[in-house]
Amino acid sequence: MVNVLVLGANGQLARNTTRWFLQRTDARLTLYLRRASRLCNPDPARTRIVEGDVLDSATLERAMKGQDVVYANLAGPMKRQAECIIEAMRATGTKRLIFISSMGIYGEVPGERYRSVLDPYRDSAALIEASDLNYTILRPGWFTSDDEVAYQLTQKGESFRGHDVSLNSLSDLIVKLALTPGMESRRSLGISRG
Ligand SMILES: NC(=O)c1ccc[n+]([C@@H]2O[C@H](COP(=O)([O-])OP(=O)(O)OC[C@H]3O[C@@H](n4cnc5c(N)ncnc54)[C@H](OP(=O)(O)O)[C@@H]3O)[C@@H](O)[C@H]2O)c1
Repeated sequence: MVNVLVLGANGQLARNTTRWFLQRTDARLTLYLRRASRLCNPDPARTRIVEGDVLDSATLERAMKGQDVVYANLAGPMKRQAECIIEAMRATGTKRLIFISSMGIYGEVPGERYRSVLDPYRDSAALIEASDLNYTILRPGWFTSDDEVAYQLTQKGESFRGHDVSLNSLSDLIVKLALTPGMESRRSLGISRG
C-alpha cells in the first residue's frame, strides 16, 4: 500500500486527484493544507489531514516521515516551496516527487511567451531538476472539468501540443505516476488533450 503526501490539498486539482486515489486505489493519503478546517475528511480509514504550511519546515518534515510519494499541488512562491520540499525530502529520505507546474516554462508553447508570471514555475522546476530526487514535473495546459480522460504527453525539449486538459486526465496520470515505480522518472512532461 502506497503512502502519498498531498501538499496544497485544498487546491482544485488536488481535490480531484484525492477523489481519484480514493475511488481507484488502496493508497493511504495525508492531506496537507493551510486552514485544515476547510476540508472534510473524505475517508478517515485511510486518509489523515494535517494542517500546515509548506514553508514551515518542521511541520512539513513531520508529515513527510513514512511517505512513499510526495505530490505537490501548489501555487504562489514556488521557488521557496520547492526548496522546502527538497530539503524535507532529503531529511526524511523520501525520493519520489510529483510536482505540478505549468505549460510554457521552457518557452515550449508555440506562439506563446508567458514571461515573468511563470518565473516561480521556472525557478522551482530548475531546482527540482538539479536535485537527485526521483521527480516527475507535470506541465499541464489549461484545466477543464470535462469528464473524459484523454491526453498526450510531450517531453522536455519537444514543442507543447494542444491547449487544454481535463482535471480527470491529470488525476489519472498523477495516480499512475504515484503507483508505478520508475514511471517517467526524472522527466518533465507537457500534458494536454492534444
Ligand atoms: N488552472 C489551470 O488551468 C492551470 C493550468 C496550468 C497550470 N496550473 C497550475 O497548476 C497548479 C495547481 O492548480 P490548482 O488549480 O489545483 O491550484 P489552486 O486551486 O490554486 O491550488 C493551489 C494550492 O496551493 C496551496 N498553497 C499555496 N501556498 C501554500 C503553502 N505555502 N503551504 C501550503 N499550501 C499552499 C493553496 O492553499 P490555500 O488554499 O491555503 O491558499 C492552494 O490550495 C497551480 O500552480 C496552477 O497555477 C493551472
